[in-house]
Amino acid sequence: MPGTGNKFEEWERIVNAIKSCRKCRLAENRRNAVPGEGNLDAAVLFLGEAPGRMEDLEGRPFVGAAGRLLNRLLEGIGLRREDVFITNVVKCRPPNNRDPKEDEIEACRPFTEAIIRLVSPRIIVTLGNHAGKFLIEGYGGGRWRGITAEHGRIRKVRVKGIDVIVVPTYHPAAALYNPKLLPTIENDFKIVKSVLEKEKGSRGEQGLLKWLRGGSLERK
Ligand code: URA
Repeated sequence: MPGTGNKFEEWERIVNAIKSCRKCRLAENRRNAVPGEGNLDAAVLFLGEAPGRMEDLEGRPFVGAAGRLLNRLLEGIGLRREDVFITNVVKCRPPNNRDPKEDEIEACRPFTEAIIRLVSPRIIVTLGNHAGKFLIEGYGGGRWRGITAEHGRIRKVRVKGIDVIVVPTYHPAAALYNPKLLPTIENDFKIVKSVLEKEKGSRGEQGLLKWLRGGSLERK
């Protein structure tokens, strides 16, 4: 999709397409679609699950309680929301915040791919099981064994010609229900920071991929 006009114009086209989308049942009850927001040149893109009540009201991702925790986690590794891009595997709120269904995630896939292609991040942090499975299994990252086994383990995927490093972690809402998970998520964010620092170092893209092929950063 990118290629004509500048990035911002392309983003506006994607936003308009999402707002007028009626490809799945989630369009029926939404107040606002939630395309995503952030830095269109971000090195790090966060891929969440689905908008909740607050997000549906405001049309912005991660503005409720889970969003406040996400902001804190970002600050903990020296990032601000304006530095990153945030979107979800489905762009409209599922009724009563139920899990998104496979066909809904599929219907949204072209938008998710278009956003990833537009931003072209180096790193995608998946938040929760649905986002991790979607990205790892859908784009050549291997088998997804569930969030408990996969969080903090970096993988490489290729999305529409874009090579990205994936760092899966739990959904921040999981730590709201089970605070014991918080240190684990914080540790996964430290992995994001260290991948980002290595990437920002002298390696350049080819060097980074070589480094990734040579070994993997495992969670502690
Ligand atoms: N949870 C998500 O997965 N995404 C949001 O935007 C808000 C809460």
